[in-house]
Amino acid sequence: MKYAHIVGWGSYLPERVLTNDDIAEMVETSDEWIYTRTGIRERRIADTEETTATLAFEAAARALAVADMHPSQIELIIVATSTPEYNFPSTACQVQDLLGATAAGAFDLSAACSGFVYGLSMAHNAIATESVRNALVIGAETMSRVLDWNDRGTCILFGDGAGAVVLKRSDVPGGVLSAVLRSDGSGGDVLNLPAVYHSPLPMLADYSPNGQKNTISMNGRQVFRFATQVISSSILDALRRAGLTINDVALIVPHQANTRIIETAAKRLKISQDKFFLNVDRVGNTSAASIPLALCEAVEQGRLKPDDNIVFVGFGGGLTWASAVIKWNVTPPEVSRLDRELQRTRYLMARGRSKLRRWGRRWGAILGGSPTPDARMRDAQKPRHHEHPEE
Ligand code: UT7
Repeated sequence: MKYAHIVGWGSYLPERVLTNDDIAEMVETSDEWIYTRTGIRERRIADTEETTATLAFEAAARALAVADMHPSQIELIIVATSTPEYNFPSTACQVQDLLGATAAGAFDLSAACSGFVYGLSMAHNAIATESVRNALVIGAETMSRVLDWNDRGTCILFGDGAGAVVLKRSDVPGGVLSAVLRSDGSGGDVLNLPAVYHSPLPMLADYSPNGQKNTISMNGRQVFRFATQVISSSILDALRRAGLTINDVALIVPHQANTRIIETAAKRLKISQDKFFLNVDRVGNTSAASIPLALCEAVEQGRLKPDDNIVFVGFGGGLTWASAVIKWNVTPPEVSRLDRELQRTRYLMARGRSKLRRWGRRWGAILGGSPTPDARMRDAQKPRHHEHPEE
């Protein structure tokens, strides 16, 4: 039996802060309404240059630095996201390229706000069954790009960011002790984000507010009820599978959606709300990124000690929900400034090598007489004259 230990963690938040007061200038709302109903004060918004993949890369690079590992040691990259730039290439492949993780398989995972825990469970299984030695699990989102900024029911909630962990194979018992994944597709209409861009299908218009496409729509009350119902049972399920009880838990790192949801869950579990780590006030709901982002902050604040049992719990669109129990038995190595500089150079070199491979493909195509990707694109954009065979 092999164990999957978390040996690295990293997060990245865009610089731009959007406060509740800023949103009150866009829609009819107030700081007081948003804070009392959700616990959110502000959130971060990605710059126009930033994408889900670049946020994910920054978080992953930091996690690798903490793990003191080279990207080529990573054999699996899973990115949990609902806001990929493309259906394919996956965000995970973009991250693989940016990191220069030359030995890694890479794929995206769609389980909305539960995505990080789903990804952790997949990576844990791959390590425990010895199909890979090390894996990167990333949650990354640019939620600001899929919000209807006229819908005060949703635009107040979400923010952008990314968080990552490195999982490493070990013979020492510990790491991910259990994970329980659940879903209920009958609740798909309660919280959704249409995926087919510029689709002519009329049904998509029904899905999105104000006739806009590809924005989140949500029945807030139903999501609230669903979340408060599943959090406690999911945590208890995962603990049972790990052979532990709630009294053995040092810290619960929940999906950061709403402080009131966590208050209700704490009451149901008959535990103090302090056992839940919360940073929703400063980052809002960052969907799949929220648990690893909160984990990094909990570590920074010294909330975790070696041998602590911690629980991750996610819930969201799908509907999906999931919990994982982790034995936190790591002390991070010191990463010097020189190490950091070396790592930055390594990523610049990875970009250089990626460019060379692209040029290689282009010149290979030219010399081989086949059209280059650019020529193919130009060709695809030419107006087509459909000729009837009989004409
Ligand atoms: O990852 C999971 C993501 N989703 C969630 O976490 C959502 C969970 N749900 C919630 O957090 C809450 O349902 C919300 C914060 C979204 C809404 O709070 P609520 O207490 O459920 O409000 P509501 O939707 O029932 O609306 C109550 C009133 C309505 O006005 P009337 O009809 O009573 O006059 C809304 O129009 O509040 C109004 N309202 C707002 N007022 C000011 C709705 N949004 C706003 C707003 N500012 N932003």
